[in-house]
Amino acid sequence: FNQLASLSLITLPLIAQADTVVNKNDLTFNANQYTSQIIQVNGQEIKYRAYEHIVYVKNPVDTQYQQMNIYIPEAYFANGQIGSYNAQNAPIFLPNSIGGYMPAEPATATPSLKGPKAGKTSTVAYALAHGYVVAAPGARGRTTQNTDGQYTGKAPAAIVDLKAAVRYLRHNDAAMPGNAEKIISNGTSAGGAMSALLGASGNHSDYEPALKALGAANARDDIFAVSAYCPITNLENTDAAYEWQFAGVTAYKKMMMGNMIDFRMERKEVAGTLTVAEIKTAKDLKTRFPGYLNGLKLRDEKGELLTLNAAGNGTFKEHITSLLMSSAQKALNKGTDLSNTPWLTIHNGQVVSVDFDQYVKTITRLKTPPAFDALDLSSGENDLFGTSTIKAQHFTAFGQANSRVNGTSADPAIVKLMNPMSYIGAAQSITTKNWRIRHGTTDRDTSLAISAILATTLKNQGKNVDYALPWNVPHSGDYDLDELFAWIDQISQ
Ligand code: DHB
Repeated sequence: FNQLASLSLITLPLIAQADTVVNKNDLTFNANQYTSQIIQVNGQEIKYRAYEHIVYVKNPVDTQYQQMNIYIPEAYFANGQIGSYNAQNAPIFLPNSIGGYMPAEPATATPSLKGPKAGKTSTVAYALAHGYVVAAPGARGRTTQNTDGQYTGKAPAAIVDLKAAVRYLRHNDAAMPGNAEKIISNGTSAGGAMSALLGASGNHSDYEPALKALGAANARDDIFAVSAYCPITNLENTDAAYEWQFAGVTAYKKMMMGNMIDFRMERKEVAGTLTVAEIKTAKDLKTRFPGYLNGLKLRDEKGELLTLNAAGNGTFKEHITSLLMSSAQKALNKGTDLSNTPWLTIHNGQVVSVDFDQYVKTITRLKTPPAFDALDLSSGENDLFGTSTIKAQHFTAFGQANSRVNGTSADPAIVKLMNPMSYIGAAQSITTKNWRIRHGTTDRDTSLAISAILATTLKNQGKNVDYALPWNVPHSGDYDLDELFAWIDQISQ
């Protein structure tokens, strides 16, 4: 009892102090307000300081999500080094935890308790062990509501929150180990989309009113690098892109949970076949894709224009198949047995061709058309584009015109705010120079065309882009942290 009593005496003042910091909320990082923690990574003990639950705006709407956990290797408070990093030059790794466009609490260094990665060493812990300062932001999402029942996290809330977190880090750069000019954003799926958007739209004035209203720190929000796994992005063009790839597949294996999409949840799928009406919708949407794609005037590494004819064939499709071939070749070179891959032709250890239709049939369709702007407003993306008082809306002309529930449409200005394609190279934004984009070959959550368009647009703008389709990887992220960290180290030199 005595021991317990003295323990609570020790913790009480700490809690009181934390309270004052939050209430004062002047966006000043307090280096003395931390707990010391130790975590094992690959058998090695990593000591770090945990600064948790830092509200990163002066006027938060929702402190459960508009807060950030910052973790800093203890070594950086004692003039130490990890690899070639120290308190001055360590990059700041910024992993968001967004999935399914849902609200996201900040990631922690300790393993998560649920989901496919439960009990496993966290991404944060690996990053700390590698010598990064880690700033894990939370963000509002499509379902958050205030006490009046108004939605507070519909688009563009998540991106505004991430920008506010970046501004907080810049504002406090001098008071914190790590270099805020070396912020590397990381995210998967919806979080990958937000990571890409953060990188594309640095400092753009479109977000200024929302940032001002929240009382974000007065600092820049452009970042050094983007890591994006399977970004569910370019939402207003993604239904057409999905059908460009999947229209020929009428059998699907769909998520049972409907719109509760989220790469972190265990997925139960139900098999089915498209209805006659859905097959027609798929064909309609597919015919819309070549016009959009050709309008982008993308070029491959050799300067050749990437185009599609009305049937959806052409150099852009060849570009996607060449990406699949590179992926297969890499797997083959590593000794992976590909003999059971019916859509690949291999001669003497060389991948010589890909049968794209067969590939698509093999991975199967996940979503029924339209894959994103659902005609009954049932998708997560419909929910994302609601307003403070409207739960879900359409966000494409096709969805609006074919709505089965007489749905209203999102303000096009808000749809624009959620799409990195609107900001890459825009006069007013600083688009990140360094990009690493990964999209697994068995991912059916969005078309491969979506990440390929993003990567090619960036390359054509002169950005440093590392883009690949990892072999046999489904909709997921953080599966190759060694490679990701090697890339970060190389660009941070
Ligand atoms: C996610 C997955 C989806 O299929 C989608 O449409 C949106 C988000 C996700 O895992 O974050």
